[in-house]
Parts: sequence; C-alpha cells; structure tokens
Amino acid sequence: MQIVPNYLFPTAVWNTLFDDWESFNATLLEQIYRLRDQDPAGVENTNVRGWQSPNNVQNLPEFEPLNLRILQVCQRIAESQHFHPDLVLQHEAWININPPGASNKIHFHANCHFSGIYYISLKPPECGSIFFRDPRVASRMLTYPTTQPTEFTSDEVRMDPEAGRMYVFPGWLEHGVEENRSDQDRVSIAFNVVAGKRQVD
Ligand SMILES: [Fe+2]
Repeated sequence: MQIVPNYLFPTAVWNTLFDDWESFNATLLEQIYRLRDQDPAGVENTNVRGWQSPNNVQNLPEFEPLNLRILQVCQRIAESQHFHPDLVLQHEAWININPPGASNKIHFHANCHFSGIYYISLKPPECGSIFFRDPRVASRMLTYPTTQPTEFTSDEVRMDPEAGRMYVFPGWLEHGVEENRSDQDRVSIAFNVVAGKRQVD
C-alpha cells in the first residue's frame, strides 16, 4: 500500500549564491562601516545589541549594484509565481551589524510580497542562524509526539548563513536571528519588496 502526501500551502524560502561574492562583499563592507561611522547610533528596530541603518539603502548610489541584484532575484521569483508582467518591484533595504552577543527578535514584515537577507561577512556557524517559525503554530491544538522533526511536524526551521548567499521569503513568515556567539561581526543587508503598478511621472 502506497500512501502519498500532498503538501498544501507550502512555504518557500528561496536562496541563491553569488559567484563573485568575495570581491562584491569586500566593496560593500567598506561602504557599510563608513555609513556606521557617520551614524553610530543607527536606528532601533529588531536588533538586540546590534547596529541597524535607516531603511534607505535603496537610495544610496554606492549600493546600487546590490539593489539591482535584490530586484533581479525577486523579479525571477515573481515570474516563477506568475505575478502580472506589468508590475514593477520596489524595495527598501537596511544594514544589520550584529557584533558578538547581538541578535534579532522574532518579527515579520507586513505589507510586502517578499522579504530577504543577503550575507556579507560572518563566521558561521557560531555567528548564529536565521530561523523561521510556522505562523500556524498558534492554531495547533497538540504538538506532534515525534522523535525527530520532519518538514511536516517542525514548527521552527534554521537556515545556514553563508557569505554571498541571499535568502528570500514571504513577508508574513515570522523570523529572527540567533545570538552571534562568534568573535567577529555578523554583517548583512535585509530588504522588503513590493510589486506595484508603475508610477506615471
Ligand atoms: Fe526581518
């Protein structure tokens, strides 16, 4: 007897690794620490003991190569999901510098189609992972009495951080970042993307 599962309403976390990440990230890293030196207080958001930039990286010319890649990756994902072809993607992005001991509280991003993270500099695995929590967990009446989690029974999933890798996920998917237990900064850029109508000038 063959029993076949059909997975309904799957949650996708897409990822891609940039081939040229070493030189690409080295340039970004210089710009990032220069920005932090200009604004050492940063903004307070989900960061615990870390530094977060304002959500304006999308407007900074020196980050244009990264902004273009964010949009390119999300455009490909949008096409794979049959978004209307006349829509344009718009994004906002910000920098996270998590020094040793820093983390990000669990949160989600309302009103955006995609959210994501691009890793620039870190020391895995001690730097901590991004983790995703099943938003349906609150409506579960029972936890599953398992000896090990499966894709079906787990309610929290960690994804390995890696310099040069980008993860993209739906904005409604709850996520956080574990404490950085390494001896160096964990540097990343996070972003939100919305597909909307082209603006007429
Ligand atoms: Fe986030």
